[in-house]
Amino acid sequence: MDVDWQRLHDVALAMTARAYVPYSHYRVGAAALVDDGRIVSGCNVENAGYGVTLCAECGVISDHIAAGGGRLVAFTCVNEQGEPIMPCGRCRQLLWEHGGPDLLVRTPLGVRTMDEVLPQAFDVSDIERTTS
Ligand code: THU
Repeated sequence: MDVDWQRLHDVALAMTARAYVPYSHYRVGAAALVDDGRIVSGCNVENAGYGVTLCAECGVISDHIAAGGGRLVAFTCVNEQGEPIMPCGRCRQLLWEHGGPDLLVRTPLGVRTMDEVLPQAFDVSDIERTTS
């Protein structure tokens, strides 16, 4: 499937304007391409309880599932300057669940697979191996 990275970038960058960041003032926007061609997106939503802040990726996954789900095939997240940033560790796990090892992730060093940015990930296969 062809990935229009410019379109994904534009959607992610537009989402930075919606970020709720009264504490860090660090805006993040994220967008992902679904295997049926749709784009899902999100922004970070902070909270006075700092630890319950939602990363932009949480918004993407929520948007994705609420819109019907499917498989994620490409993902990008950017700061306010439009620079690609890496998903935090927790969010790499979230992305893995819905994109698996082949999900393409745009990183500051270029496009990588999810398998490269989260090697030896824990996932459903680990659970099924021990419970079946
Ligand atoms: N943030 C994200 O939205 N995604 C990441 O992968 C890294 C961090 C947000 C959370 C917080 O609102 C701000 O960036 C600073 O950590």
